[in-house]
Amino acid sequence: MNVPLLDLKAQHAAIKGEVLQTLLPLVESQLFILGQPVQDLEGRIAALSRAAFGVGVASGTDALLIPLKALDLKPGDEVITAPFTFFASAGTIHNAGGRPVFADVEPDTWNIDPAAVEAAITPRTRAIMPVHLFGQMAAMERLLPLAAKHGLAVIEDACQAIGARRRIEGRWRMAGELGLVGAFSFFPSKNLGAWGDGGMIVTSDEPLAERMRRLRVHGGLQMYHHDEVGLNSRLDALQAAVLLAKLPHLAAWSEARRANAGAYSAMLVGVPGVRAPVVDAANEHIFHQYVIAADRRDALQAHLKARGIGTAVYYPKALHLQPCFAHLGGREGQFPVSEEATRRVLALPVYPELSEAQRQHVVTSIREFYGA
Ligand SMILES: Cc1ncc(COP(=O)(O)O)c(C=O)c1O
Repeated sequence: MNVPLLDLKAQHAAIKGEVLQTLLPLVESQLFILGQPVQDLEGRIAALSRAAFGVGVASGTDALLIPLKALDLKPGDEVITAPFTFFASAGTIHNAGGRPVFADVEPDTWNIDPAAVEAAITPRTRAIMPVHLFGQMAAMERLLPLAAKHGLAVIEDACQAIGARRRIEGRWRMAGELGLVGAFSFFPSKNLGAWGDGGMIVTSDEPLAERMRRLRVHGGLQMYHHDEVGLNSRLDALQAAVLLAKLPHLAAWSEARRANAGAYSAMLVGVPGVRAPVVDAANEHIFHQYVIAADRRDALQAHLKARGIGTAVYYPKALHLQPCFAHLGGREGQFPVSEEATRRVLALPVYPELSEAQRQHVVTSIREFYGA
């Protein structure tokens, strides 16, 4: 049996008619840059994340880079993020002129550890970038008071967590709601994926929203007048139309991922050498990825491949050990929880269209490997 890590063709087959229908008028109009579909999507994603404004940009990476640029970082200014995340979290800090400073993650959720963040704050710290890794939110209720105390901006890297929420003081709060800004990615494999690159920034700070709109069009809202140097980072109207057609399905897709995750975790109980993902009791996880911690991870991955099962290692190298950040002085052993995670993590197929027989095949193959 074949179980790919992700099967976007299955999703496409189910909604093809709806999506193509929304594209035709746009193609006829030949209006491809920004425009109504982008504005509509900005409103919808802002509403989903309970923010006042959305700013559509070219990628999730730019959804991080643009708010970081709006911080006007000076050389030596520091932004704290996790070493166990996708590269863009730290790469954008560097590209905005800042210095990435890493704080280790928690051993259960692999989200940034607020105690480690507190220990990493210096007089040069300007912002904290928590990453809602794999689709569950970081401990915002512990990070926000730290940010307030030290006058720091909070930029939520919610690229993997659209629609995720966390219960804080009895209220559900959305990914992207509580930080100064939230950044989303519409990379095709995301729970809400475009037909190419795309991203969205959300914020409830109106002057900041205006500034970020300006930064995405070369720093000038008036044609040929540039108040500052920005980027060319617009969300395509075609991508926005695809996303608008897909958005009504997002909640059901994330629910199906949660159901798959629940079924896996129940079936993996008692398998020695495997730890199922830990969901923080306060979180509603969207399972962008279902990531186990596994003994003899690489051999397990090879075994599953031989059984026709696609898996992936997110992420095999912590960011403080990346060659491009050697100048930051990172060393082996500095962030032990992140480093341990890089040796043990394995993402299993969790996409919404997965069948029960496919899930069963994945678990049977894992049990077979461990002799359980
Ligand atoms: C945690 C995280 N941050 C940032 C990004 C960057 O998003 P994009 O690939 O859309 O530029 C991603 C996407 O892969 C991500 O997973």
